[in-house]
Amino acid sequence: MQLREPVTGVPERIDPKIVIRKMQKKDSKKAGEFCQYTMMWMYKKYLRGAYPREALEFDAGMKSSASLEKRFKNPDAYGFVALSDGKICGIVLGMVFGNSGLGKINWISVDPKHQHEGIGIRLMMATEGYLRKRGCHKIYLNTLAPLVPAIRLYMKFGLLPEAYLRKHWWGSDFIVMSKHIAEYKKKR
Ligand SMILES: CC(C)(COP(=O)(O)OP(=O)(O)OC[C@H]1O[C@@H](n2cnc3c(N)ncnc32)[C@H](O)[C@@H]1OP(=O)(O)O)[C@@H](O)C(=O)NCCC(=O)NCCS
Repeated sequence: MQLREPVTGVPERIDPKIVIRKMQKKDSKKAGEFCQYTMMWMYKKYLRGAYPREALEFDAGMKSSASLEKRFKNPDAYGFVALSDGKICGIVLGMVFGNSGLGKINWISVDPKHQHEGIGIRLMMATEGYLRKRGCHKIYLNTLAPLVPAIRLYMKFGLLPEAYLRKHWWGSDFIVMSKHIAEYKKKR
């Protein structure tokens, strides 16, 4: 098993005014609205006809403002936001599974007006830094083949395809991508 080094260095084209910070409870309302908007944008651009609408609606429900606020009750849930002039322009949400050393990325999106500016990679870097501090040895996520920019982002970041899940969530095929970031160590 090959451990992969952290991706370092901020992409040159990023606007220095973009701030990346941990998501806070007070962000929930705006963050939920941002997720609804970017999910619908993603669906229309990449997934229409390739992913069931009811699956999207279920996914969107899990990222509503109310659901995001509830996540703060769970110490294993984490999130980072990217802010441009104080307004959310990117988000990453994930989970750590107790002391298992496994960290998941549940969702990442960047405002279409700010895409391909290096914000996605910075959100991934913030995630990895956080998961390393939480003692995780592995990061993984599930994604869909038509989401080409996302898959390219993950590959650039060092996540590799690990499994293909046929007829999985709502009958859709998913790709599992992962990155080993440390040796597994049992925690007390
Ligand atoms: C995936 C996403 C978060 C990437 O965010 P981003 O801020 O645009 O990404 P970055 O600017 O950091 O780009 C990093 C890499 O991603 C890939 N990428 C980004 N935008 C791309 C595009 N439009 N086409 C192809 N590759 C793209 C490239 O490999 C890029 O590296 P490069 O600059 O050397 O070409 C963004 O496209 C998005 O929000 N998509 C819709 C939501 C989504 O698909 N989420 C994933 C659900 S599993």
